[in-house]
Amino acid sequence: MSTIRIAPSILSANFAKLGEEVRAIDEAGADWIHCDVMDGHFVPNITFGPDVLKAIRPHTKKFFDVHLMIAPVDPYIEAFAKAGADLISFHVEAGAHPHRTLQAIKAQGKKAGIVLNPGTPASAAEPLIGDIDLVLLMTVNPGFGGQSFIHSVVEKIAQVRALIGERPITLEIDGGVTPETAPLCIKAGADTLVAGSAVFKAGPSAYAGNIAAIRQAA
Ligand code: DX5
Ligand code: ZN
Repeated sequence: MSTIRIAPSILSANFAKLGEEVRAIDEAGADWIHCDVMDGHFVPNITFGPDVLKAIRPHTKKFFDVHLMIAPVDPYIEAFAKAGADLISFHVEAGAHPHRTLQAIKAQGKKAGIVLNPGTPASAAEPLIGDIDLVLLMTVNPGFGGQSFIHSVVEKIAQVRALIGERPITLEIDGGVTPETAPLCIKAGADTLVAGSAVFKAGPSAYAGNIAAIRQAA
């Protein structure tokens, strides 16, 4: 399928050279740049905050897809928006007031997405479906790159696709995406695939081939 979007996750990049890495995946054919923000509280790992996002922003014009794995979310939205996020997504499990969070993201003039953990049912997206630009379904438990794809989520991809219907909402998958698992996601109705280790493995000279391999397999 030619319309699928590949969003390499810079979680698997060399953090000592983030600017170069972002340029390398841009040139290698990335559609979006997926930025994983972790707080050591909502998930058991810590990555980077808005200052790092701001520092890499001048290195590419590509769309910054910012995946917040933090709680609380609301106090940080303005900072990520100002740092250069194009879309901000947050976990429905991270707080009691997701509509308020969506309004705060929209107030910054940014696209807004919700994220569902593997254990969260598709029905969690229902009350929010009229207010979002993207649903991100985790196919690993968030926190680390390089984990194995959880196959039982594939059925949920189809459920969320049905829920989306004709709405212009992106359906993105994150976790364990490889040339083997990508076609399962696309067949079930996803249109955007995040990939960390499958893109960044083997160094910059392999990025274009790694991205192409996922795109072709899907
Ligand atoms: C996991 C992150 C993912 C991760 C994917 O918590 O949200 O974006 O980087 O990495 P891979 O593709 O290696 O599973
Ligand atoms: Zn992610």
